[in-house]
Amino acid sequence: MADLLFDQLKSGEPKKIEIDGTSVCVVRVGEEVFAIDDTCSHADASLSDGEVSDFKIECWLHGAEFDLRSGAALTPPATQGLETFTVNKSGNSVTITKKNGDK
Ligand code: FES
Repeated sequence: MADLLFDQLKSGEPKKIEIDGTSVCVVRVGEEVFAIDDTCSHADASLSDGEVSDFKIECWLHGAEFDLRSGAALTPPATQGLETFTVNKSGNSVTITKKNGDK
């Protein structure tokens, strides 16, 4: 589990955090926040260094795009989607947890 402050997230600027040893890419899009596995499913690149457009993030290394909402791989060379995390936002407080209920 990780706690963040909403007003410290800039829209369209990914932020890399750690949850139980897993690198997670957190992205604010307008008033919404999404969290996705930070490691690209194609190779070992950090998506937090990628570009965000609308609800997509593009891997900086070979250009694969992922849907921030579902984790789905949208364009090659990635063919496998990524794990997404549960985001709870309450006022300025943002809590991110693994979907399987682990802390
Ligand atoms: S490492 Fe991300 S597209 Fe190749």
